[in-house]
Amino acid sequence: ANIPTTFPAGFLWGGATAANQLEGAWNVDGKGLTTAEVVKKAKNRQEFSMNAVTKETLAAAIADKTDKLYPKRRGIDFYHRYKEDIALFAEMGFKAFRLSIAWARIFPNGDEEKPNEAGLAFYDKLFAECHKYGIEPVVTISHYEMPLGLTLKQNGWASRDTIDAYVRYAKVLFERYKGQVKYWMTFNEINASTWGFTGTGALDDELSDQEAMQLRYQALHHQFLASAQAVKIGHQIDPENQIGCMIARMQTYPKTCNPADVRAAQLQDQLNLFFTDIQVRGEYPNYMNRYFAENNIKLQMAENDQALLKEGCVDYLGFSYYMSTVTSAASQVEKASGNFALGEANPYLEASDWGWQIDPVGLRVTLNEYWDRYQVPLFIVENGLGALDKLEADGTIHDSYRIDYLRKHIIQMQEAIKDGVQLIGYTMWGPIDLISASTSEMSKRYGFIYVDQDDDGNGSLKRYKKDSFYWYKKVIASNGQDL
Ligand code: BG6
Repeated sequence: ANIPTTFPAGFLWGGATAANQLEGAWNVDGKGLTTAEVVKKAKNRQEFSMNAVTKETLAAAIADKTDKLYPKRRGIDFYHRYKEDIALFAEMGFKAFRLSIAWARIFPNGDEEKPNEAGLAFYDKLFAECHKYGIEPVVTISHYEMPLGLTLKQNGWASRDTIDAYVRYAKVLFERYKGQVKYWMTFNEINASTWGFTGTGALDDELSDQEAMQLRYQALHHQFLASAQAVKIGHQIDPENQIGCMIARMQTYPKTCNPADVRAAQLQDQLNLFFTDIQVRGEYPNYMNRYFAENNIKLQMAENDQALLKEGCVDYLGFSYYMSTVTSAASQVEKASGNFALGEANPYLEASDWGWQIDPVGLRVTLNEYWDRYQVPLFIVENGLGALDKLEADGTIHDSYRIDYLRKHIIQMQEAIKDGVQLIGYTMWGPIDLISASTSEMSKRYGFIYVDQDDDGNGSLKRYKKDSFYWYKKVIASNGQDL
């Protein structure tokens, strides 16, 4: 029988990061302030502070010139330590390193005529360092941030004008890094746009829930158009470019076999598949017409928008996968539509310390579902476990729980490959500890490499190898066989 038994040759094993969570150096070499750098650390583990930005907190953040309350301003100082960090990735045998470019290093305010040469030069050096070790850079053009100037001037993605600012920026990147970068993603987790500020770069705290959803879906429409244009231009500049979308996949299960629950879960699932339906197939799916009508959401569309979406279909589907959720007819009615939610508890699953339900089999389900639906190459560009790690006196970190989590997910990836799914790579999230996106904590660690820094920014920033470092090295060397 023609069943693939193992990971394909050239499989892109590696790790994934984002500029605003690790670079630091927030105010050097001409860089402007970004939307990520006005987000405060969460008050507790459950607060998703990334969307808690209001007019008042924004004004206070702009006035504050320190990084004390804003951990994404300091990151883990990757900007100055990238050589050391990439050498560690190379030691693990990375084939790929996913990173994002900080838009505000290139266009500090978002609307300059010319890009900032110092910003462009930084990424030249970074890519050269990757290629030195045969590591393929995988670049996200916008990962949860944009120049704050665009928020102040035009409320971020709420404005259609932001499309032009983004397309200009993307074009500069495609031209400058032609031959250095082949794999791109237009937006990180584009579905974050329906969750609020981090996705839209737009303030919506003074709006009613309905108005906020209207704004977010309109902002999302602008991002879809920006993405489609970037795909088109990226292919024109270099036909070798592989340009993907990136979604936070939330596989959901019906709570019971009651058909009402099954239907509720189906709708919940459609609300998550909607993003890839547009970016892979190039058109709004019919089920959203009803959803928009029932929620009184009216999208402003220009004449050519639909044609443009069709011309900008992505080459591959990138997604993050951390957990699955449970949906019941009752919970769906209660939940504010479109909001990010962890769903109901699944009695068959354990959860992380942050309440994320751990579901390796769900990854296989997702991979099969995506492949059946789209038949485009799939790329798992994030997966991992945020946990509290302990640095021992002798400099070791025994993170067997992380190895266990990753191992179980990799086993399910292999099962999906045997099912016939085309999977091209796996970049686990946060190969080196960095600032959490949702809470801005440092203590929510994902890495193979420990970074000595606490939630308040104290620490030597020294790097230490965890047990999982040596384990992942074996996984890559054996192309996923030695788990
Ligand atoms: C994804 C984001 O949602 O999850 C990353 O793309 C993020 O930026 C990752 O860091 C893990 O989330 P968190 O909140 O634990 O950092």
